[in-house]
Amino acid sequence: MDNPFILEPYKSKELFCDREEETARLLDCITNGRNATLISPRRLGKTGLIYRTFEEIRDRNLPYETFYMDVSSSQSIDDFVKLLAEAVAGVLNRQNRIKDFFRALKGLRPLLGYDPVNDSPTLSFTFQTMAQKEQTVKSIFSFLDSRRRPVVLAIDEFQQVREYPDVYMEALLRTYIQPLHNVRFIFCGSKKHIMTDMFTNALRPFYESTTNIPVSKLNPVVYAAFIEKHFREAGKTIPKDCLDEIISWTRDHTFYTQTLCNEVFHLSGTLVTDEDVLRAKGIILAANRDRFLEIQRLITPAQWKLMKAIAKDEVVRHPTSSDFIRRHRLSSGPAVLKNLRTLVDKELVLTDASEEGVSYSIYNVFLSRYLELL
Ligand SMILES: Nc1ncnc2c1ncn2[C@@H]1O[C@H](COP(=O)(O)OP(=O)(O)OP(=O)(O)O)[C@@H](O)[C@H]1O
Ligand SMILES: [Mg+2]
Repeated sequence: MDNPFILEPYKSKELFCDREEETARLLDCITNGRNATLISPRRLGKTGLIYRTFEEIRDRNLPYETFYMDVSSSQSIDDFVKLLAEAVAGVLNRQNRIKDFFRALKGLRPLLGYDPVNDSPTLSFTFQTMAQKEQTVKSIFSFLDSRRRPVVLAIDEFQQVREYPDVYMEALLRTYIQPLHNVRFIFCGSKKHIMTDMFTNALRPFYESTTNIPVSKLNPVVYAAFIEKHFREAGKTIPKDCLDEIISWTRDHTFYTQTLCNEVFHLSGTLVTDEDVLRAKGIILAANRDRFLEIQRLITPAQWKLMKAIAKDEVVRHPTSSDFIRRHRLSSGPAVLKNLRTLVDKELVLTDASEEGVSYSIYNVFLSRYLELL
């Protein structure tokens, strides 16, 4: 039997835990003609949720045509055009209708290629001017708007469009998106402060134009039941204390919990033991050690020391308090604050704002568990 704890964003409804409410809310947005934003820290399950929702659309025979593009690797509007065109070409190719798309792009003379690794068409354009690039984005959106069925286009890691030089991409997209009648957008991103600024800052083009659907941690009780069920269905018994330990050691952060479950599943027999869980943790930390040492090399000793201190406390609310500084033998409050800012910028430390104020933890849960052992 295949390992049921997948380490990719989505495979099937059966191997995907919960997210019923988020899926329903996304579907609500889509069927009511609203655009949606999904914002959460990395590796909690945004991309998986998009695929889960797309599958639900198919299962319920809803009339939407779905498209997905991930712009995290894009550096310019050229890259955006290529990714958008390929997302559309991939779907049209599966329907054997890629000619329709080419007809819509006539004049832009795209070159069609083929990527054997992903078994999908590739496209390249040979335009020179910014106006041509903008025109291409507009043409592709118009093509989607003219599809027989309404379209859902998910743009993953959307905050990346801010990085493009020479173009105010948000304003450009907003201008092209506004007149569309037949296309709903899902904007997804993990850089919370940037995404929040894009969608809630009154001076930004996308201000208040979307419904925000937060993606938080899974309900630990529901997740434990999901994990237990998949062990059971594979003929394995997992005691409750092992389940609790798995979820708490990985802080119920989906990617990390899945990884530990995957390893425990792999090495356990018909009865999962505490030793299995312990061994699995050791294997995971050992496998990541080189990456962690690389991180250590990329930051200063004081920053590394501060990370250790945060890891040992798990969650830190008052990083400049004399208690925190004394217990971990850190230097001064201002130095801690400066290093903390750098670590947050580098996405090594995660900030969480709640009613009780801001708190800090180590972004990568496995790195946190590694650091607290040092
Ligand atoms: N509901 C779920 N059930 C089971 N596993 C999940 C679920 N959601 C996420 N995962 C696991 O967590 C991993 C991360 O999920 P995903 O890639 O969707 O997160 P993300 O929020 O898009 O992260 P990033 O911001 O890094 O792109 C997946 O590879 C999968 O292993
Ligand atoms: Mg993602």
